[in-house]
Amino acid sequence: MKFFIDTADLDEIRECASWGALSGVTTNPSLYAKTGGKLADFEGHMVKICEICEGLPVSAESTATTTEGMVEEGRRLAALAPNIVVKLPICAESLAACRTLASEGIKVNMTLIFSVPQALLAARAGARYVSPFVGRYDDIAEDGVERVADIVAAIGNYDFGWWNEEGGVEIIAASLRTPNHVTQMALIGADIATVPYAALKKCLTHPLTVNGLASFEADWKKVTAEA
Ligand code: E4P
Repeated sequence: MKFFIDTADLDEIRECASWGALSGVTTNPSLYAKTGGKLADFEGHMVKICEICEGLPVSAESTATTTEGMVEEGRRLAALAPNIVVKLPICAESLAACRTLASEGIKVNMTLIFSVPQALLAARAGARYVSPFVGRYDDIAEDGVERVADIVAAIGNYDFGWWNEEGGVEIIAASLRTPNHVTQMALIGADIATVPYAALKKCLTHPLTVNGLASFEADWKKVTAEA
């Protein structure tokens, strides 16, 4: 499973990219708003993320509401950098836009996926990525892990490799809030987990690792003191 970071914050992206284990970035309008960014700076901000994560897919979301608008905005976003992926929220208009953009070689990440039929329709329309949400299901007292497991199983039943040279559609498990969500996504075989900064940092640590390191350091001090 690959790790993406789910943020538009440049410092968070820089730090996590420096670990050497990051495979991409996802953003959305809410995450950009959280940075305090203005409309006029949006495209420049996406370019900065693409430069930090050169060669890694960076999802930039269209806020257009018509097929024509999404196609136009998608082409403009895709022209910003070679690693841009155009993110579209699932609906009839975005399916049509996805088909057009994909036929032009532009990668689309279809987002706000909550059901198996939505994921299959997005894949049929040529989406390079589909993003089912876990945490927002949990928020309404449903089991997000189970819902996303259904989507992973259903997409895995079919071969979408005919659509592009990279082997078809990949599932980005989104709306992840905890290291346990990440674990569950790996166990059900999601291709990618996109994880917010705070949860990604938690994925890196474990109390037993902290304790173990402290005792290695203490024991090594004894060795060096005797030398
Ligand atoms: C990423 O692609 C999604 O937009 C994001 O994971 C949503 O997360 P949230 O449900 O915590 O807002």
